[in-house]
Amino acid sequence: MTRWQRFRFLPGIPLGKNGIRVTGSEEHRRLSRQAASQGAVLLKNDRSVLPFSQGARIATFGKGICDYVKGGGGSGDVTCEYVKSVADGLLEKEKEGRLCLDHDLLSFYDEYIKDRYSKGRQPGLIEEPELPDELINKAAAYTDTALIVISRYSGEGWDRVSNGDDMKKVVDSADIYALKFLMRSVELFPDGDYYLSGNEKKLVSRVCSSFSNVAVLLNTGGVTDSSWFKNNDRIASVLAVFQGGMEGGSAAADLLCGDVNPSGKLTDTWASALSDYPSSSTFHESVDYVKYYEDIFTGYRYFETIPEAKGCVNYPFGFGLSYTSFDIRDIKGKYENGVVAFEAEVLNTGDLPGREVVQLYASQPKGLLEKSARVLAAFKKTGLLKPGESEKVFLSFDIKDISSYDDKGSVRKNAWILESGVYSFCLGTDVRAPETGFTVELRDNLIVKETEDLLAPHSLDRRLRSDGTWEELPTEEFTPHEPVTGRMEPDECEGPMPEVRPLSGMYMDWSKINTGDVPSFEKVAEGELSLDEFVGNLSDNDLISLLGGQPNTGLADVFGFGNLPRHMVPNIMCADGPAGIRIQPDRSVCTTSWPCATLLASSWDLKLIRDVGRAGGLEAKENNFGLWLTPGMNIHRNPLCGRNFEYYSEDPFLSGMCAAALVNGIQENRIGACPKHFACNNKETGRKSSDSVISEKALREIYLRSFEIMLKNSDPWVIMSSYNLINGVHTSENHDLLTGVLRNEWKFKGFVTTDWWTLGEHYLEIKAGCDLKMACGYTDRVKIALLKGDITSEELETAAKRILSVILNYE
Ligand code: BGC
Repeated sequence: MTRWQRFRFLPGIPLGKNGIRVTGSEEHRRLSRQAASQGAVLLKNDRSVLPFSQGARIATFGKGICDYVKGGGGSGDVTCEYVKSVADGLLEKEKEGRLCLDHDLLSFYDEYIKDRYSKGRQPGLIEEPELPDELINKAAAYTDTALIVISRYSGEGWDRVSNGDDMKKVVDSADIYALKFLMRSVELFPDGDYYLSGNEKKLVSRVCSSFSNVAVLLNTGGVTDSSWFKNNDRIASVLAVFQGGMEGGSAAADLLCGDVNPSGKLTDTWASALSDYPSSSTFHESVDYVKYYEDIFTGYRYFETIPEAKGCVNYPFGFGLSYTSFDIRDIKGKYENGVVAFEAEVLNTGDLPGREVVQLYASQPKGLLEKSARVLAAFKKTGLLKPGESEKVFLSFDIKDISSYDDKGSVRKNAWILESGVYSFCLGTDVRAPETGFTVELRDNLIVKETEDLLAPHSLDRRLRSDGTWEELPTEEFTPHEPVTGRMEPDECEGPMPEVRPLSGMYMDWSKINTGDVPSFEKVAEGELSLDEFVGNLSDNDLISLLGGQPNTGLADVFGFGNLPRHMVPNIMCADGPAGIRIQPDRSVCTTSWPCATLLASSWDLKLIRDVGRAGGLEAKENNFGLWLTPGMNIHRNPLCGRNFEYYSEDPFLSGMCAAALVNGIQENRIGACPKHFACNNKETGRKSSDSVISEKALREIYLRSFEIMLKNSDPWVIMSSYNLINGVHTSENHDLLTGVLRNEWKFKGFVTTDWWTLGEHYLEIKAGCDLKMACGYTDRVKIALLKGDITSEELETAAKRILSVILNYE
């Protein structure tokens, strides 16, 4: 095998056992189904309606039974061979003699959905049909057990809306390609798709008045309204199956029938109303900025800390029921060498095998710094425990990992601090876990780490305190650095493609392309030439070319990097993610569609996530991709963010650990992972120009923290910056972020790429520490800056070396 063979020649070499392709293989589809079932969260199970008893007769309602949404839209969508709906899954169970279905109802929905699909409707963006009375009456005569399926779709480039004013703003600034989905969603859900539509409400009430056992399945990308079922006694059971990928419907059926016992836990707080989330009232305030007024109090940090907010929670963070029950006992804590460690025994006290997630939360002493009442510090999922079986779990963390950041100087400005006092710990199965009684006392304040003063806000005028009052903040004028090249118009930045450059005197034989007149990168790979020497010999054109995206080859549609053929630098292709290797439908190659990120994280099973990463990475490699643009790991700040399905959680620790697991799995194949979008891409509306106005404390404790944790636990080859600005500076041009924090503090060694077609100026991005401009660089503009002395050759070389170092990782 010659070096970089896959990238040079794009061979179709299968990577499975016995020469079989792994892409979309049965083995991967099985893993996808398993993953989809492990993350489902049982929210309610009164009267034990679930699992359906053997031979139960089931009447299925809601077009969601046939209209299964496998994942969200945009770059995270996946072309797969088929998508199993819940109806498909249940019909398989019926064939196995597990239950009986009302086929009149199924046919009604099946015909309706087939008709809508044939008219080009997008799954999840289809109106709930009016159900003829006779169908309900017949079903009620057939059985007392009903299943309602509610599905939702959202995607990249647009957010959810919940009122008319917001709707207008969002529509006016949605990405062009996303506009049709947004318009359709607005038409179907005039009050916003967070809530049930009028037709859905009608359906629920009709079903509830005709059946005594009602179960609900939520096929959504994340948090939606839960008050309609929490407060409705007629609805006995609710299972959030989220968006489970191509095998999601089968996984849902496995759970409904009890072949798999739900063991997922919420990765977000499900509040009583959308307005209860502290960021809801200003989420759509402006398309130009987002002010993070709630500061560190996002998700459970808000609901568990701020007085009165506790009562607004329907289902707390970490919550999830099982068909069996568990007892957590013999809890013992100890503190040694700065590490807090707990052990506990988990006993299955019920009648069915099941898994439990033990969660450890830490509370810091009240001091001078603002703190959340609790923070997730460690977690562990048990194996499958038979009834009566128990497992000992061990959880530990370095106490420094729960320190607080002081951006004001209350104790020490720009430092991570553990304040003196008593630290207590809660261990259990959600954020409201009981106190363990074990405490650690620190006599003195401990300065864990001092940092530079970076990323400070200029226009954040207030932020929330833990007692619910506001801290007023000073603001000041801020003038961003203007590029010597001037700025391009936003339209000019949208969509330019890298040029395909013909090679004069091209040989058929790759080995002869480099005739020795210019240095060969292969020599660097073989240790015969240093990277410094190689880069020092590149012309300005070649050097700058390396810092921009390269033309697609093979199956790729999101471009590549490298590509200096004369120098034998291969062109490494990127594949989109995160729910699978995204290959456009016209390439006729189907890949495995995995459960959405929220669902994966809800499994709280890091081994499983690593397995998914490994399998996805292998599919990338088999199809000759070198970089998978995965995982998405922004924080779920508000349920309205249209792209939440691609991200893990409201909690940075859980997000960081899940992302690290995925990265580690992917990179076992010597394929690069690319965690994204660094950072604060928590809103899609106006995402390319929206300024995230946020305190340094909230950045460091929440929005950067997930990336920091991911980097402590994995070593991604690449990181993607986001589109938005942070405190007035595009993230891709943000030296504080990409050099100050990411490289100097966290010691990141890979390269940083922009997100695709940012509004940042290419040479300012390079100067900031963003090495690659995707999808296309601007050689002429960078050269102007070079001539004007606003960027140096050394800066270009540094970026080029980082990209080339990653290319040296490939086989
Ligand atoms: C998205 C990224 C994606 C990239 C390439 C962007 O619009 O934000 O997540 O990887 O496109 O398709």
